[in-house]
Amino acid sequence: MSSVAGRTLVVGVCGGIAAYKVAGIVSTLVQRGADVHVVMTEAAQRFVAPLTFHALSANRVHTSLWEIRDREDHVLHVTLAHRAAALLIAPATADAIAKLVHGYAEDLLGAVALAARCPMILAPAMNSSMWEHPATRANVAALRARGWQIVGPESGFLAERERGVGRLAAEERIIAALEDAVARTHELEGQHVLVTAGATREAIDPVRFISNASTGAMGIEIAREATLRGAQVDLVLGPTHLDPPHGARAHRVESAREMHERVMALREGVHVIVAAAAVADWRPAVIFVQKVKKEDVDPMLRLERNPDILAQLGAAKGAAFLVGFAAETEHVEEHAREKLARKRLDLICVNDVSQPGIGFASAENEMLLLWEHGREPLERASKREIAARIWDRIATLRGAERAHEGEA
Ligand code: PMT
Repeated sequence: MSSVAGRTLVVGVCGGIAAYKVAGIVSTLVQRGADVHVVMTEAAQRFVAPLTFHALSANRVHTSLWEIRDREDHVLHVTLAHRAAALLIAPATADAIAKLVHGYAEDLLGAVALAARCPMILAPAMNSSMWEHPATRANVAALRARGWQIVGPESGFLAERERGVGRLAAEERIIAALEDAVARTHELEGQHVLVTAGATREAIDPVRFISNASTGAMGIEIAREATLRGAQVDLVLGPTHLDPPHGARAHRVESAREMHERVMALREGVHVIVAAAAVADWRPAVIFVQKVKKEDVDPMLRLERNPDILAQLGAAKGAAFLVGFAAETEHVEEHAREKLARKRLDLICVNDVSQPGIGFASAENEMLLLWEHGREPLERASKREIAARIWDRIATLRGAERAHEGEA
């Protein structure tokens, strides 16, 4: 049975030639048992009549933020957004993408997209020069970073009678992406997940600190993916300019000791703990109350050890599935295996940070996953994709653990 059977999907249709192809997508989703609600922009209605989608979905087609016909329309954009198991926007035009980036809510589709907390899939279609324009590239990258899954566009014959990249992705690809996304929304339902992310700052005086280059991006993507898979997520986040994902409860901390305290307060009853934070191992033994004058400072900064949060979680290991991270520069697998065993982890996700363009403060990552009897290299990909692969591996290992307990 398809994962979309019995689930509500919202399909946003924008004003592009490929709008007619979305009729086929809606029809297939309905045949697979989904309850499909179509939202059309004004421009989309120039290409396809709402009646087409009404007939195919057997639901009223929404075309305005201002429609009030029955009780269901009470705050329509929020109602639709919150009922959706997934939101698909196809064809996503360059204009629609730009508006999504800036959070325009002047029409119903923009408002639904802002209110949605479900997996969101964007299937762009446009002329290849528009697709390749730096503005569109930057806009697509911004949406991807915010958690949108981008499907296509594909290369082929375009409406302008030329060949290039810009065709709406094939129906099977779009449907598969939707089915995958919806399937994952069940995976962590009823589960409580605790994630640490980002660097810690260890104060020297009111304006100076010791820290590292972690932005929190990797841990934020781990937390985002867990919320998309249905978990209740607490994210303990060091100082960062990045926003925590929608749906996760964020706990902002500064120092390793604050992170330690917050994690210990939250760990009770948690099913999975993922420690992606780059916690400072050391802190200055003395924190100066006033800004230190350079002529006063002792050039030898005395340091003392911070608590090892993960090691403590491992030592008091209850039923929680414990995932650690490691950033290594040499003997990567050997050092990470040592941490896996010493900190009593179920899984460790290793970064070889001697490689350029991955790990700290990068858009992409490349990892090696290690567990007691196995290993899985993850090829270079966006941190969001890496986070999804990590959750896939956690699901497999936890599934195997449960099967083993069932046998015992
Ligand atoms: O945040 P980004 O810019 O996206 O970068 C991502 C990342 C490179 C920070 C991330 O992928 C990563 O590798 N995080 C772990 C980095 C690290 O500090 O590794 P470590 O080998 O020092 O620590 C091993 C594990 O122990 C980690 O899970 C860490 O959270 C934990 N630890 C470490 C020290 C400490 N005092 N307490 C801890 O809990």
